[in-house]
Amino acid sequence: MIIANNLSLVYPDKTQALIDVDLNIKAGELVYITGPSGSGKTSLLKLFMGIEYPSTGSLSVMGKPIKNNSKGNIRKIRRNIGPVFQEFKLIKGRTSLENVMIGMRFLGLTPKCIKKEANEALEKVGLGHKKLSKVEHLSWGETQRVAIARAVARKPSLILADEPTGNLDYDNAINILGLLKSFRNENTTVIITTHATHLIMEEQNATFISVDGGRIRIERKG
Ligand SMILES: Nc1ncnc2c1ncn2[C@@H]1O[C@H](COP(=O)(O)OP(=O)(O)OP(=O)(O)O)[C@@H](O)[C@H]1O
Ligand SMILES: [Mg+2]
Repeated sequence: MIIANNLSLVYPDKTQALIDVDLNIKAGELVYITGPSGSGKTSLLKLFMGIEYPSTGSLSVMGKPIKNNSKGNIRKIRRNIGPVFQEFKLIKGRTSLENVMIGMRFLGLTPKCIKKEANEALEKVGLGHKKLSKVEHLSWGETQRVAIARAVARKPSLILADEPTGNLDYDNAINILGLLKSFRNENTTVIITTHATHLIMEEQNATFISVDGGRIRIERKG
């Protein structure tokens, strides 16, 4: 699913965000990425999505290389990724359903099919009753659920969630993690960055990547 060899990322201002990362994440893994602020967690997810490119070393996602000159590949890869990122804000003034549908525009589905799948995704995250609510009228937890519905509606093979538990209280954070985990299956890999290490410690069947100063350490449980 994701293979990295000797992967490093240096930003244009010379910040060394990731150093010598070796990874082999298999289809169907549940992966938690933890580490201090500024350690490189978001940078790693951005590489997986082709938002950033490796400075040195190699990275392939779903069998396709992530390189500066592979825009076509990256478009194809992204169709198969469901991102839950703070930067991909929901569109204000639009309903939950419209927001989920907008995320499905470029998949080549018919409008009818888009609407059906978007409705199903909102049901899955428990927000069927809010589908016609404008997103700015939702609670923060509900907003996160719409973002997750938008990410999963296209039935991605890879779900990337960056700090999905940020700003949520304990119960809501547990709920959101549980929801994200529920999309994991043999074909769907779920990768979550989180500061909430206390919520994931007990997890018995998962891969833990801890990032510190751009270097990673991997531990597989179960
Ligand atoms: N576009 C950028 N240009 C330059 N430096 C950047 C850029 N994005 C991130 N960085 C730097 O790269 C390092 C890693 O940042 P990153 O956002 O990956 O950390 P993080 O682990 O996600 O932190 P947080 O827990 O606060 O979200 C930090 O030193 C950060 O300041
Ligand atoms: Mg981050």
